[in-house]
Amino acid sequence: MTGEKTKTNRTKSMESAKYEPIIKIKDLEVTFPIRQGNVIALDGINLEIYRGETLGIVGESGCGKSTLGFSILNSVQSPGKITKGEIYFHGENLLEKSEKELQKIRGKKISMIFQDPMTSLNPLMRIDRHIIETIRKHEKNVSRKEALERAAYLLDKLGIIRERLFDFPHQLSGGMRQRVMIGIGLALNAEVLIADEPTTSLDVIVEAQFIQLLAQLKREFGITLILITHNMGIVAEISDRVAVMYGGKIMEIGTSDKIFKNPLHPYTEGLLKSIPNILLDDDNLEPMPGFPPDLLNPPEGCRFAPRCKYATERCFRESPKMYRYDSRMVSCFKYENKDKTRETDL
Ligand SMILES: Nc1ncnc2c1ncn2[C@@H]1O[C@H](COP(=O)(O)OP(=O)(O)O)[C@@H](O)[C@H]1O
Ligand code: SF4
Ligand SMILES: [Mg+2]
Repeated sequence: MTGEKTKTNRTKSMESAKYEPIIKIKDLEVTFPIRQGNVIALDGINLEIYRGETLGIVGESGCGKSTLGFSILNSVQSPGKITKGEIYFHGENLLEKSEKELQKIRGKKISMIFQDPMTSLNPLMRIDRHIIETIRKHEKNVSRKEALERAAYLLDKLGIIRERLFDFPHQLSGGMRQRVMIGIGLALNAEVLIADEPTTSLDVIVEAQFIQLLAQLKREFGITLILITHNMGIVAEISDRVAVMYGGKIMEIGTSDKIFKNPLHPYTEGLLKSIPNILLDDDNLEPMPGFPPDLLNPPEGCRFAPRCKYATERCFRESPKMYRYDSRMVSCFKYENKDKTRETDL
């Protein structure tokens, strides 16, 4: 965990950025129509992402984290569709943009990297060509030489020496391929980087280096980072805020400090106790009983009720709103009467 001083600086930078959402998501719904019916993968997501912050998105597998990442690029994987809501980037609704307009934003202004960057790299193309072609696709006036120089400079900063630019993707390690993808994003001056489980395929040492790199990106390039992961240790280390997702909804959102010290939502509490993280010894882990809901037939009422030790009869009938409590928003009836505003302004 970083020291108090860093945390104080982090909190300060967050406060100044707080009033400037770079991305604003309103009432987002994403549906996957399948043979058996409609899977509502995201249901009523409201979220603001502030310029320069690192937002961790956590939750068990299948809760909608990747779908949320793709939605921000308006590129939900087929057969999924955004069926409701608005997504603003610098105040403009991405869902009203043409495919041509979106192509100028995807990759250039908002960049997404995945668990295995091999899926985004052509195995038959050397790294230099990937870089040159991506930059020149977005910036027609840049010469090949200029594009390569710009990328080489940034990759050098990310710890990849110039000679490696002439390798093919399979000749680089997983960690290097991740850095190449980030380098391409930076060379295009991406403002937002969405990293979807970026460290899952890396070994522990490379993972630690990669996390430091992400922190450096924020410091040096002021990039806004959306970090999707089930690794709570990483989130605790570098996120300013955390959004905890469950069954296609946000259950709790607030600063990392608050969430890790005092989780409010019973699901956040269970998650912190059940998966390895830097705050608990392995001996103190408590597995969470049950499974996440099937989003084809989600339970009525609170989606977490079948697994919640605090559930009352009402929780199985009614779905809680987002309540404000202790400087965060939490979707649980336990905080209903403590809510001062009853607003849903995440
Ligand atoms: N191609 C698909 N077809 C049908 N349902 C899907 C598809 N992709 C995702 N889903 C649904 O969306 C939910 C969220 O998926 P995803 O966003 O990948 O979750 P996460 O990234 O948190 O593991 C899944 O539980 C599943 O129900
Ligand atoms: S609303 Fe009820 S079931 Fe849902 S998390 Fe809160 S106490 Fe548990
Ligand atoms: Mg995922």
